[in-house]
Amino acid sequence: MQSVAAWDPTTYLRFAGERARPFAELLSRVGADAPRVVVDLGCGDGSVTATLAQRWPGARVTGIDSSPSMLAAAAAHAVPGRLDFTTGDLRNWHPTEPVDVLVSNAALHWVPGHGQLMARWAGELAPGGWLAVQVPGNQAAPTHALLAELVAGPRWAGRLAPGDDTVLDRAAVLDPTGYLEVLTAAGLAPDAWETTYLHVLTGEDPVLRWVSGTVLRPVLARLSPADGEELTAEYAAALRVAYPVRPDGTTVLPFRRVFAVGHRPG
Ligand SMILES: C[S@@+](CC[C@H](N)C(=O)[O-])C[C@H]1O[C@@H](n2cnc3c(N)ncnc32)[C@H](O)[C@@H]1O
Repeated sequence: MQSVAAWDPTTYLRFAGERARPFAELLSRVGADAPRVVVDLGCGDGSVTATLAQRWPGARVTGIDSSPSMLAAAAAHAVPGRLDFTTGDLRNWHPTEPVDVLVSNAALHWVPGHGQLMARWAGELAPGGWLAVQVPGNQAAPTHALLAELVAGPRWAGRLAPGDDTVLDRAAVLDPTGYLEVLTAAGLAPDAWETTYLHVLTGEDPVLRWVSGTVLRPVLARLSPADGEELTAEYAAALRVAYPVRPDGTTVLPFRRVFAVGHRPG
Protein backbone atom coordinates (compact mmCIF):
# COMPACT_ATOMS: atom_id res chain seq x y z
CA MET A 1 0.00 0.00 0.00
CA GLN A 2 1.21 3.53 -0.58
CA SER A 3 2.68 5.50 2.32
CA VAL A 4 0.17 7.09 4.68
CA ALA A 5 1.97 10.34 3.87
CA ALA A 6 0.59 9.93 0.36
CA TRP A 7 -2.75 11.62 0.96
CA ASP A 8 -3.61 15.24 1.65
CA PRO A 9 -7.39 15.79 1.47
CA THR A 10 -6.98 19.51 0.73
CA THR A 11 -4.79 18.91 -2.32
CA TYR A 12 -6.99 16.02 -3.46
CA LEU A 13 -10.17 18.10 -3.20
CA ARG A 14 -8.88 20.89 -5.46
CA PHE A 15 -10.58 19.06 -8.33
CA ALA A 16 -13.54 17.75 -6.36
CA GLY A 17 -16.08 18.50 -9.12
CA GLU A 18 -14.15 16.60 -11.78
CA ARG A 19 -13.60 13.69 -9.39
CA ALA A 20 -17.25 13.48 -8.29
CA ARG A 21 -18.61 13.04 -11.81
CA PRO A 22 -17.27 9.51 -12.46
CA PHE A 23 -18.62 8.45 -9.07
CA ALA A 24 -22.08 9.73 -10.00
CA GLU A 25 -21.87 8.00 -13.40
CA LEU A 26 -20.77 4.75 -11.75
CA LEU A 27 -23.65 4.88 -9.26
CA SER A 28 -26.15 5.72 -12.00
CA ARG A 29 -25.76 2.09 -13.15
CA VAL A 30 -26.51 0.64 -9.71
CA GLY A 31 -30.19 -0.23 -9.55
CA ALA A 32 -30.57 -0.92 -5.83
CA ASP A 33 -33.89 0.45 -4.50
CA ALA A 34 -33.64 0.19 -0.74
CA PRO A 35 -30.32 -1.37 0.31
CA ARG A 36 -29.72 -1.96 4.02
CA VAL A 37 -25.94 -2.35 4.03
CA VAL A 38 -23.76 -0.11 1.84
CA VAL A 39 -19.95 -0.10 1.98
CA ASP A 40 -17.46 2.24 0.28
CA LEU A 41 -13.94 0.76 0.20
CA GLY A 42 -11.16 3.35 -0.15
CA CYS A 43 -13.66 6.07 0.74
CA GLY A 44 -11.07 8.85 0.98
CA ASP A 45 -12.34 12.09 2.46
CA GLY A 46 -15.92 10.77 2.56
CA SER A 47 -17.47 13.45 0.37
CA VAL A 48 -18.67 10.97 -2.25
CA THR A 49 -19.58 8.38 0.42
CA ALA A 50 -21.98 10.96 1.87
CA THR A 51 -23.91 10.98 -1.41
CA LEU A 52 -24.63 7.25 -0.90
CA ALA A 53 -26.34 8.04 2.41
CA GLN A 54 -28.35 10.78 0.71
CA ARG A 55 -29.49 8.46 -2.09
CA TRP A 56 -30.45 5.62 0.31
CA PRO A 57 -31.73 7.21 3.53
CA GLY A 58 -32.68 3.80 4.96
CA ALA A 59 -29.20 2.31 4.54
CA ARG A 60 -26.37 1.94 6.98
CA VAL A 61 -23.37 3.30 5.03
CA THR A 62 -19.77 2.57 6.05
CA GLY A 63 -16.67 4.09 4.49
CA ILE A 64 -13.37 2.30 4.95
CA ASP A 65 -9.93 3.73 4.23
CA SER A 66 -6.34 3.18 5.32
CA SER A 67 -5.30 6.84 5.33
CA PRO A 68 -5.60 8.62 8.70
CA SER A 69 -5.58 12.06 7.03
CA MET A 70 -8.41 11.11 4.65
CA LEU A 71 -10.42 9.59 7.52
CA ALA A 72 -9.91 12.70 9.63
CA ALA A 73 -11.52 14.71 6.82
CA ALA A 74 -14.26 12.09 6.39
CA ALA A 75 -15.31 12.39 10.04
CA ALA A 76 -17.02 15.69 9.18
CA HIS A 77 -19.54 13.77 7.03
CA ALA A 78 -20.45 11.14 9.64
CA VAL A 79 -24.11 10.84 10.63
CA PRO A 80 -24.61 8.74 13.79
CA GLY A 81 -26.38 5.48 13.04
CA ARG A 82 -26.42 6.10 9.28
CA LEU A 83 -22.97 6.97 7.98
CA ASP A 84 -19.70 6.08 9.63
CA PHE A 85 -16.04 5.79 8.70
CA THR A 86 -13.54 3.16 9.82
CA THR A 87 -9.82 2.57 9.40
CA GLY A 88 -9.00 -0.55 7.45
CA ASP A 89 -7.06 -2.05 4.59
CA LEU A 90 -9.51 -3.00 1.87
CA ARG A 91 -7.31 -5.98 0.93
CA ASN A 92 -8.08 -7.66 4.27
CA TRP A 93 -11.60 -6.37 4.73
CA HIS A 94 -14.44 -8.85 5.22
CA PRO A 95 -18.05 -7.83 5.82
CA THR A 96 -19.74 -8.88 9.06
CA GLU A 97 -23.01 -9.35 7.15
CA PRO A 98 -23.93 -9.66 3.45
CA VAL A 99 -23.57 -6.35 1.63
CA ASP A 100 -26.31 -4.89 -0.57
CA VAL A 101 -24.12 -2.31 -2.34
CA LEU A 102 -20.32 -2.47 -2.35
CA VAL A 103 -18.56 0.48 -3.97
CA SER A 104 -14.89 1.21 -4.57
CA ASN A 105 -14.18 4.41 -6.46
CA ALA A 106 -10.69 5.41 -7.62
CA ALA A 107 -8.93 3.20 -5.11
CA LEU A 108 -8.25 -0.25 -6.61
CA HIS A 109 -5.54 0.99 -9.00
CA TRP A 110 -3.34 1.11 -5.89
CA VAL A 111 -3.95 -2.61 -5.29
CA PRO A 112 -2.23 -5.15 -7.58
CA GLY A 113 -4.34 -8.18 -8.48
CA HIS A 114 -7.58 -6.52 -7.38
CA GLY A 115 -9.59 -8.71 -9.78
CA GLN A 116 -9.27 -11.49 -7.19
CA LEU A 117 -10.54 -9.15 -4.49
CA MET A 118 -13.53 -8.23 -6.63
CA ALA A 119 -14.32 -11.93 -7.11
CA ARG A 120 -14.26 -12.44 -3.33
CA TRP A 121 -16.43 -9.38 -2.73
CA ALA A 122 -18.92 -10.67 -5.29
CA GLY A 123 -19.34 -13.75 -3.09
CA GLU A 124 -19.96 -11.56 -0.06
CA LEU A 125 -22.89 -9.71 -1.62
CA ALA A 126 -26.43 -10.29 -0.42
CA PRO A 127 -28.78 -11.85 -3.01
CA GLY A 128 -29.72 -9.01 -5.36
CA GLY A 129 -26.60 -7.09 -4.28
CA TRP A 130 -24.43 -4.79 -6.38
CA LEU A 131 -20.66 -4.36 -6.80
CA ALA A 132 -19.54 -1.07 -8.38
CA VAL A 133 -15.92 -0.20 -9.14
CA GLN A 134 -14.26 2.67 -10.98
CA VAL A 135 -10.51 2.89 -11.61
CA PRO A 136 -8.44 5.47 -13.45
CA GLY A 137 -7.17 3.88 -16.66
CA ASN A 138 -4.65 6.58 -17.50
CA GLN A 139 -1.43 4.72 -16.71
CA ALA A 140 -0.30 5.11 -20.34
CA ALA A 141 -1.05 8.86 -20.35
CA PRO A 142 1.85 11.35 -20.20
CA THR A 143 0.99 12.23 -16.56
CA HIS A 144 1.95 8.69 -15.57
CA ALA A 145 4.39 7.70 -18.32
CA LEU A 146 6.58 10.77 -17.74
CA LEU A 147 6.66 10.19 -13.99
CA ALA A 148 7.37 6.48 -14.45
CA GLU A 149 10.27 7.41 -16.75
CA LEU A 150 11.69 9.82 -14.19
CA VAL A 151 11.35 7.34 -11.33
CA ALA A 152 13.04 4.53 -13.28
CA GLY A 153 15.67 6.74 -14.91
CA PRO A 154 19.33 6.87 -13.88
CA ARG A 155 19.01 10.34 -12.36
CA TRP A 156 16.36 9.46 -9.76
CA ALA A 157 16.22 5.70 -9.28
CA GLY A 158 19.17 5.69 -6.86
CA ARG A 159 17.88 8.67 -4.88
CA LEU A 160 14.39 7.29 -4.23
CA ALA A 161 13.75 5.31 -1.07
CA PRO A 162 12.18 1.91 -1.82
CA GLY A 163 8.48 2.19 -2.59
CA ASP A 164 5.56 0.81 -4.50
CA ASP A 165 5.03 2.08 -8.05
CA THR A 166 1.82 0.10 -8.68
CA VAL A 167 -0.11 3.22 -9.49
CA LEU A 168 2.21 3.94 -12.44
CA ASP A 169 2.04 0.36 -13.72
CA ARG A 170 0.08 -0.09 -16.95
CA ALA A 171 -0.74 -3.68 -15.99
CA ALA A 172 -2.27 -2.72 -12.64
CA VAL A 173 -5.66 -1.90 -14.17
CA LEU A 174 -7.71 -4.09 -16.50
CA ASP A 175 -9.60 -2.85 -19.51
CA PRO A 176 -13.43 -3.05 -19.49
CA THR A 177 -13.35 -6.53 -21.05
CA GLY A 178 -11.09 -7.75 -18.25
CA TYR A 179 -13.49 -6.51 -15.56
CA LEU A 180 -16.46 -7.91 -17.47
CA GLU A 181 -14.79 -11.34 -17.35
CA VAL A 182 -14.05 -10.99 -13.62
CA LEU A 183 -17.68 -10.14 -12.88
CA THR A 184 -19.05 -12.87 -15.12
CA ALA A 185 -16.78 -15.54 -13.60
CA ALA A 186 -17.96 -14.40 -10.15
CA GLY A 187 -21.57 -15.07 -11.12
CA LEU A 188 -22.67 -11.44 -11.46
CA ALA A 189 -24.55 -9.86 -14.35
CA PRO A 190 -21.81 -7.58 -15.73
CA ASP A 191 -21.80 -4.02 -17.02
CA ALA A 192 -18.41 -2.56 -17.92
CA TRP A 193 -17.34 0.47 -19.91
CA GLU A 194 -14.77 3.22 -20.21
CA THR A 195 -14.92 6.98 -20.60
CA THR A 196 -12.21 9.51 -21.40
CA TYR A 197 -13.09 12.81 -19.78
CA LEU A 198 -11.55 15.96 -21.22
CA HIS A 199 -10.97 18.09 -18.15
CA VAL A 200 -10.60 21.75 -19.08
CA LEU A 201 -8.28 23.18 -16.46
CA THR A 202 -7.27 26.76 -15.73
CA GLY A 203 -4.38 28.48 -13.97
CA GLU A 204 -0.67 27.85 -13.89
CA ASP A 205 0.59 24.25 -14.17
CA PRO A 206 -2.90 22.82 -13.65
CA VAL A 207 -1.88 19.26 -14.58
CA LEU A 208 0.91 19.36 -12.01
CA ARG A 209 -1.62 20.60 -9.43
CA TRP A 210 -3.92 17.71 -10.34
CA VAL A 211 -1.26 14.99 -9.99
CA SER A 212 0.09 16.63 -6.82
CA GLY A 213 -3.04 15.27 -5.13
CA THR A 214 -2.50 11.74 -6.44
CA VAL A 215 0.41 10.01 -8.23
CA LEU A 216 3.13 12.53 -7.39
CA ARG A 217 2.65 12.40 -3.62
CA PRO A 218 3.92 8.85 -2.99
CA VAL A 219 6.98 9.61 -5.11
CA LEU A 220 7.76 12.81 -3.18
CA ALA A 221 7.33 10.91 0.10
CA ARG A 222 10.35 8.83 -0.93
CA LEU A 223 12.65 11.83 -1.54
CA SER A 224 14.27 14.50 0.62
CA PRO A 225 12.45 17.87 0.33
CA ALA A 226 15.27 19.31 -1.82
CA ASP A 227 15.28 16.33 -4.18
CA GLY A 228 11.49 16.45 -4.25
CA GLU A 229 11.57 20.06 -5.44
CA GLU A 230 14.09 19.20 -8.13
CA LEU A 231 12.08 16.23 -9.42
CA THR A 232 8.88 18.29 -9.36
CA ALA A 233 10.51 21.03 -11.45
CA GLU A 234 11.70 18.49 -14.01
CA TYR A 235 8.30 16.78 -14.12
CA ALA A 236 6.46 20.12 -14.39
CA ALA A 237 8.54 21.12 -17.42
CA ALA A 238 7.73 17.83 -19.15
CA LEU A 239 4.01 18.18 -18.31
CA ARG A 240 3.92 21.69 -19.83
CA VAL A 241 5.10 20.22 -23.14
CA ALA A 242 2.73 17.24 -23.01
CA TYR A 243 -0.28 19.37 -21.98
CA PRO A 244 0.23 22.77 -23.65
CA VAL A 245 -1.75 25.85 -22.70
CA ARG A 246 -4.40 26.54 -25.35
CA PRO A 247 -4.95 29.97 -26.97
CA ASP A 248 -7.83 30.65 -24.54
CA GLY A 249 -5.53 30.05 -21.56
CA THR A 250 -7.00 26.66 -20.61
CA THR A 251 -5.25 23.29 -20.52
CA VAL A 252 -6.99 20.05 -21.46
CA LEU A 253 -6.27 16.95 -19.41
CA PRO A 254 -7.69 13.81 -21.05
CA PHE A 255 -8.46 11.30 -18.30
CA ARG A 256 -9.52 7.72 -19.05
CA ARG A 257 -11.54 5.86 -16.44
CA VAL A 258 -12.76 2.27 -16.41
CA PHE A 259 -16.06 1.29 -14.80
CA ALA A 260 -17.42 -2.10 -13.74
CA VAL A 261 -20.80 -2.84 -12.17
CA GLY A 262 -21.99 -6.32 -11.28
CA HIS A 263 -25.43 -7.42 -10.09
CA ARG A 264 -25.92 -10.60 -8.12
CA PRO A 265 -29.18 -12.35 -9.04
CA GLY A 266 -31.79 -11.93 -6.29
C1 LIG B 1 -8.02 8.64 -5.06
S1 LIG B 1 -8.62 8.38 -3.44
C2 LIG B 1 -10.34 8.11 -3.75
C3 LIG B 1 -11.19 8.42 -2.58
C4 LIG B 1 -12.69 8.29 -2.80
N1 LIG B 1 -13.08 6.94 -3.11
C5 LIG B 1 -13.17 9.23 -3.89
O1 LIG B 1 -13.66 8.74 -4.91
O2 LIG B 1 -13.04 10.46 -3.72
C6 LIG B 1 -8.03 6.74 -3.10
C7 LIG B 1 -8.27 6.30 -1.67
O3 LIG B 1 -8.01 4.89 -1.59
C8 LIG B 1 -7.41 4.64 -0.34
N2 LIG B 1 -6.71 3.36 -0.39
C9 LIG B 1 -5.73 2.98 -1.25
N3 LIG B 1 -5.33 1.73 -0.97
C10 LIG B 1 -6.07 1.31 0.07
C11 LIG B 1 -6.13 0.09 0.82
N4 LIG B 1 -5.34 -0.94 0.53
N5 LIG B 1 -7.03 0.00 1.83
C12 LIG B 1 -7.85 1.05 2.13
N6 LIG B 1 -7.83 2.22 1.47
C13 LIG B 1 -6.95 2.35 0.45
C14 LIG B 1 -6.49 5.82 -0.12
O4 LIG B 1 -6.11 5.97 1.23
C15 LIG B 1 -7.34 6.97 -0.66
O5 LIG B 1 -8.09 7.58 0.35
